[in-house]
Amino acid sequence: MKIQPRIRNNMCLTAHPDGCREQVREQIAYVTSQPSIRGPKRILIVGASNGYGLAARIVSAFSCGAATAGVFLEKPGSARRTATVGWYNNLAFEQEAHDSGLVAFSVNGDSFSREIKEETIQRLRDEMGPVDCVLYSIAAPRRIDADTGEMYSSVVKPIGQRFLGKTVDIKTGALSDVVAESATEDEIQETVKVMGGEDWMDWIEALHNQNMLSRGAATLALSYVGPSITAPIYRDGTMGRAKQHLEATADSINRRFVDHDVRATISVNKALVTRASAVIPSVTLYISLLYAVMKRKGLHEGCIQQMYRLFRDYLYSANPKPLDAEGRIRLDDWEMREDVQHEVAALWQQIIDTSPRHVSEIDEFRSEFLRHHGFEMPGVDYDQEVEIT
Ligand SMILES: NC(=O)c1ccc[n+]([C@@H]2O[C@H](COP(=O)([O-])OP(=O)(O)OC[C@H]3O[C@@H](n4cnc5c(N)ncnc54)[C@H](O)[C@@H]3O)[C@@H](O)[C@H]2O)c1
Repeated sequence: MKIQPRIRNNMCLTAHPDGCREQVREQIAYVTSQPSIRGPKRILIVGASNGYGLAARIVSAFSCGAATAGVFLEKPGSARRTATVGWYNNLAFEQEAHDSGLVAFSVNGDSFSREIKEETIQRLRDEMGPVDCVLYSIAAPRRIDADTGEMYSSVVKPIGQRFLGKTVDIKTGALSDVVAESATEDEIQETVKVMGGEDWMDWIEALHNQNMLSRGAATLALSYVGPSITAPIYRDGTMGRAKQHLEATADSINRRFVDHDVRATISVNKALVTRASAVIPSVTLYISLLYAVMKRKGLHEGCIQQMYRLFRDYLYSANPKPLDAEGRIRLDDWEMREDVQHEVAALWQQIIDTSPRHVSEIDEFRSEFLRHHGFEMPGVDYDQEVEIT
């Protein structure tokens, strides 16, 4: 089958296996071109097939030489559909890791379920041993509660106010108005249930109870803050509530496992094009403008650069960079620089004032988004038939 990108509602419905492999190789090439890091020996990454989790797995394996266990939820291809991006990414990662003699195993299934936790822990026991680092990097639309079977959905909505904003269509660059009604109390609670810290705590507890968490292990989850222009729809909205819960969970883990010397930390990362971020209204426009400004200033980073910096300067540095007042790592430091935000805000205002038919800054976002799905990768012949399963 020849595979072309099919974008609908800012989601890409197809993925290209060869392009995904190239994209994984590009990330590996980046980390192997940098000085190696004395990092984790055995790491578990929950949410390891895409975005930040995949990048962290590549840094762990190819810069630190760690054995990596990855958990994710991805679909294989069928006769009519390509597999999901993460499926192809993972095939490529495992192939490259095994070719390099690195220990790596993956578990494809629902992170929130008891079965997947048990399967992962069993495989750790059989194939790797206790982990000294756990990275929690899930971005999920829903969760089935392992105890009750009840389903919870996460929503991106403002709280206590209606949100009127602008968003941009990735395919066409067309600007449109977006309206989001204030979330109900149930929607807030459901979003916290899915994207808050409960499942992170469940993983740490399960690993600890089964003696698969080394004494003194590090664990990390990822958060986002962002500027005032996206605050009504993000940080002050349902997602922000979930992130507050996730951040508070770091303290709960530190208190609960103090005897085991576990160190839980939050890393506030930069806004980046991933499958998760592309569907958040207004954030697409913000990221497009942010990319334009950060690239112009030579400050742009992708997932792999962010994760390399996280390991080198914070998690495994002999002399770690300072944390913020709330004890969080701030990898969004360059994004939040005053000069960067000042220029992004000016571009944003210009767009609000002039309402152009086409936002030119989306072109770079679209390219990155397509590359993220294995398209527009140099060296890949997209006219060739490929196996999609
Ligand atoms: N992208 C950004 O701009 C950004 C910025 C800062 C922080 N973050 C945070 O980083 C984390 C990862 O986000 P991302 O953008 O890399 O997301 P992503 O969509 O690229 O990857 C999400 C991962 O979660 C996995 N996943 C989803 N549901 C699952 C389930 N039920 N069971 C098992 N695995 C499941 C997917 O398979 C994938 O590996 C999130 O917490 C997000 O809020 C993202």
